[in-house]
Amino acid sequence: MAILFDEKKKVFTLQTKNSTWQMQVGRYGHLWHLYYGRRIQEGALDYLVRGINRGFCGAPYEAGEDREYSLDTYPQEYSAYGTGDYRTSCLSVEHGDGSRAAELLFDSYEIRKGKYGLSGLPAVWAGEEEAETLQIVLRDKASLVETVLLYGVLEEYDVITRACVIRNKGEGVWLERALSACLDLQRDDLEMITFYGRHTMERSLERGMCRHGKITAESMRGTSSHQENPFVILCEKGAGEEWGECYGMSLVYSGSFLAEAEVDQINQTRFVMGIHPEGFRWRLEKGESFTAPEVIFSFTSSGYGELSRNFHRLCQEHLIRGKYRNTRRPVLLNNWEAMEFHITEEDLVSLAASAKELGTELFVMDDGWFGGRDHDRCGLGDWTPNARKLPEGVAGLAKKIHDMDMMFGIWIEPEMINEDSDLYRAHPDWCLRAPGRTPNRERGQLVLDISRREVRDYLFDSIGGILKEAEVDYVKWDMNRNLSDVWSAACPALRQGEVSHRYVLGLYDLMERFVSAFPDILWEGCSGGGGRFDAGILYYMPQIWCSDNTDAIERISIQYGTSFGYPVSAMGAHVSVSPNLQTGRRTPLETRAAVAMAGVFGYELDVRRLDQEDRERIKEQIRWYKQYQELILYGDYYRLTPVGENGEFAAWQSVSRDQQTAVVSAVCLHARSNPIFLRVRLKGLKENRWYRVRQERLTESAREDKGQEAGAFCPEEKELICQGSGLMYGGVNLPVFKRDYESVRYVIEILDEKEG
Ligand code: DGJ
Repeated sequence: MAILFDEKKKVFTLQTKNSTWQMQVGRYGHLWHLYYGRRIQEGALDYLVRGINRGFCGAPYEAGEDREYSLDTYPQEYSAYGTGDYRTSCLSVEHGDGSRAAELLFDSYEIRKGKYGLSGLPAVWAGEEEAETLQIVLRDKASLVETVLLYGVLEEYDVITRACVIRNKGEGVWLERALSACLDLQRDDLEMITFYGRHTMERSLERGMCRHGKITAESMRGTSSHQENPFVILCEKGAGEEWGECYGMSLVYSGSFLAEAEVDQINQTRFVMGIHPEGFRWRLEKGESFTAPEVIFSFTSSGYGELSRNFHRLCQEHLIRGKYRNTRRPVLLNNWEAMEFHITEEDLVSLAASAKELGTELFVMDDGWFGGRDHDRCGLGDWTPNARKLPEGVAGLAKKIHDMDMMFGIWIEPEMINEDSDLYRAHPDWCLRAPGRTPNRERGQLVLDISRREVRDYLFDSIGGILKEAEVDYVKWDMNRNLSDVWSAACPALRQGEVSHRYVLGLYDLMERFVSAFPDILWEGCSGGGGRFDAGILYYMPQIWCSDNTDAIERISIQYGTSFGYPVSAMGAHVSVSPNLQTGRRTPLETRAAVAMAGVFGYELDVRRLDQEDRERIKEQIRWYKQYQELILYGDYYRLTPVGENGEFAAWQSVSRDQQTAVVSAVCLHARSNPIFLRVRLKGLKENRWYRVRQERLTESAREDKGQEAGAFCPEEKELICQGSGLMYGGVNLPVFKRDYESVRYVIEILDEKEG
């Protein structure tokens, strides 16, 4: 039993393999948070919660002379505004009389097998064998508003999910804030790790001490955004990959969000997460309910390496759905960086033929194939093939590609509209735009109002028509701007505060319709690269294009940051041309491949222009990746080095779940004259078993300068036999890197008992 209720003490205990979450119905009926942390075998930690009279911290009326009791200092399970808890709140309700208050009191609970689901929203899924649900109903003291707290416990995964549903049984109210979850920790020694960025430079890690007052990670862009990510970590000061208590929180949501940590006057830390309240306002009529999206929590006392692996497993096994959840992904070639909008069927077929010779399995036609789409200021919304570019339509091209024995994919951007489009000319009111204002344009496009059913129907029918007619195996769903001028012609004036969230609900409805109608298609999310890389999208699409930055060296840090909250199997990563189109940097082909292979691997360049030597290398890369793809995508992922400004090199490792095989890649970030020796300690192996370590190829400089010891990583040069403990605690040497951006790869295989 993962969920226990102690009737006498009124204590709820949620147990996972290595963590415990406890809460208690307090003496006046409020739900107190007692503890979340390392697993407690038995017993209640109710003694941890104490009060003293502090002054200026009011007490609920029922407390009478009990002045030690205050909602402002007692740890709450779900905080509400207006009744004496002055810390950041999850819930703010405006009642019919204009009062803004809620005081949430315990009403009832239910424990059931299996994991709850959320209507219209993505959520972790799990059956009766793998999860339990706790539902607690809290009711407002003075109104008929109820908050239903939902907890899903996935014991084996060290994961607890939370969501909540606000129900109104009385006269209409307004929700001014409806965040998903609150975590009140009675400690002040936590750092917050967040992942900030910008277009082409997503998810850079930043950490800082939580301090008195608030620190936030947030997006008010209508999408989860390039700028911040809805995955954050609270960790013990100084925690690292293998050491320290860490709490990870991932919001299963793709719109504006808030993650906020506040240290209060008595050094307790409150964390809240959910839909961003800025611009949000939701009407709840009598009998209606509002569902706040899910937050996935995981705790570990062994550092954020393990925390990441908890999230990786959870996403792979209980968030992502569909055919490609845990199966091979085809190695693709995408034509975007090679051709941009300048496409013809003839040229596409010739590129596909060349890519086929190399061993790629899926050819993707990116932007530019529909309507009048010759540049980025026209065509979006007109989902009919451009007859000049594709005389036989998408179906004709798809057939030609399939005739080559390749899979075929297309790019779409359903949520957008250009003013220069037939759709806009027919339905100028279908975009988000505030009356009396000229809308903000971004990349020459406006945002379609997909909160409206008729707009979604149009998109489903027009794009779905193509997917029905043509043999399409893959679709890249792009979204190239943030929301602004958020106003819907279909929504009454007073309810415009609902539009931003209704947009996200519309998005999920549309995605659900597409993925259910076309279950065999491999869907890839995208938003100008990784502008909407979140757990919400992963519920519909097993992979997301990680960044529009394909420079291998910058990608190392983008993929590094992304790996904290998301699995390798979710990160689209391609080899592109050198010098790189975004940075002009020259990197060896092997290094570009090594970096892209730490994700869902593909190519994005004009392979027809490569010389024979590079073509042969690519054939070898694809052959290698196919052999190790399963281990890389679904094995355990270890970051072996931090990736920061001044790193000498970056290294990462994938280990098969049975610990039989591992692959390590290392890239030199900064070659030195008179170099120092570099070494890397491996992880995740069996301590007492013997392994053979093979350096798969020499570095570029060693290849050119045969015989020198630059390429040697051990005295025998070719392979090393060592116990797992030696490889993990002693490490392996890296070759002496002679040039920036050289790379090396090791394959580590367990030896038979007798060989060892
Ligand atoms: C942005 C994407 O991230 C790119 O990969 C490409 O698909 C372009 N959009 C096409 O417009």
